[in-house]
Amino acid sequence: MSAISKEYKRVTVKSLVEMKANKEKIAMLTAYDYTMAKIVDHSGIDVILVGDSASNVMAGHETTLPITLDQMIYHASSVIRGVERALVVVDLPFGSYQGNSRVALEASIRIMKESGAHAVKMEGGSEIQESVTRILSAGIPVMAHLGLTPQSIYKFGTYTVRAKEKEEAEKLKQDAKLLQELGCFALVLEKVPAKLAEEVAKNLSIPVIGIGAGGGVDGQVLVTHDMLGMTHEFSPRFLRRYLDLFDAMNQAFSKYIEDVKKGDFPSKEEQY
Ligand code: KIV
Repeated sequence: MSAISKEYKRVTVKSLVEMKANKEKIAMLTAYDYTMAKIVDHSGIDVILVGDSASNVMAGHETTLPITLDQMIYHASSVIRGVERALVVVDLPFGSYQGNSRVALEASIRIMKESGAHAVKMEGGSEIQESVTRILSAGIPVMAHLGLTPQSIYKFGTYTVRAKEKEEAEKLKQDAKLLQELGCFALVLEKVPAKLAEEVAKNLSIPVIGIGAGGGVDGQVLVTHDMLGMTHEFSPRFLRRYLDLFDAMNQAFSKYIEDVKKGDFPSKEEQY
């Protein structure tokens, strides 16, 4: 089986289900701005997630909770302008869907209308069933997210692996089934035991995309700034770094500062 089973000019929610059926792994990365989205899309990524991790990565907050709907729409519309092929999924921010399904629908409609994104992502299982159903009934595709759900960090207390105990694992399996039955097109599983994630992926027809969930699932997602090595203080076991951009950028900035201080930049050729 080759790594790519079919060329997609534009990736849709249907393409992802097809990829799972064809045993083609799905590759997903985050982006929050036009320039990064353009590069990530050009590399052939299947899904770009405008994650609420923008709250940490872009704004320097300790958690994902502070980011607002307006800020998510700003990030999403910047990303959309840089994308030609990938499916663009946007996180519904904390507080925009947990309480009231009508508010959840309004938030999702704003994301779709104002950014031009293709789908929304929501954290949680049966507790958000009403919001998921209402959003889906408006024709908006929903990606689900279970396991470690960072919007609930104050309930969990830590960012450690979830669903290691039987009771939590059972609830996760039931939630996964329910979310598929409601009509979600894919599920993100974050930081759960690999065996459990593999079992969930096997029992669902929709794709399961993992982060810290092992290799037995249908695809992988990483935060782009982490895999590029820009956030060098963040080192979870699941993270593979493909570059050390923190060091590379530091060297470039230091050289620039040195050149400016020495009067070496700009040269004669670099002026008018
Ligand atoms: O916000 C985000 O970047 C995410 C991924 C870690 C899945 O939800």
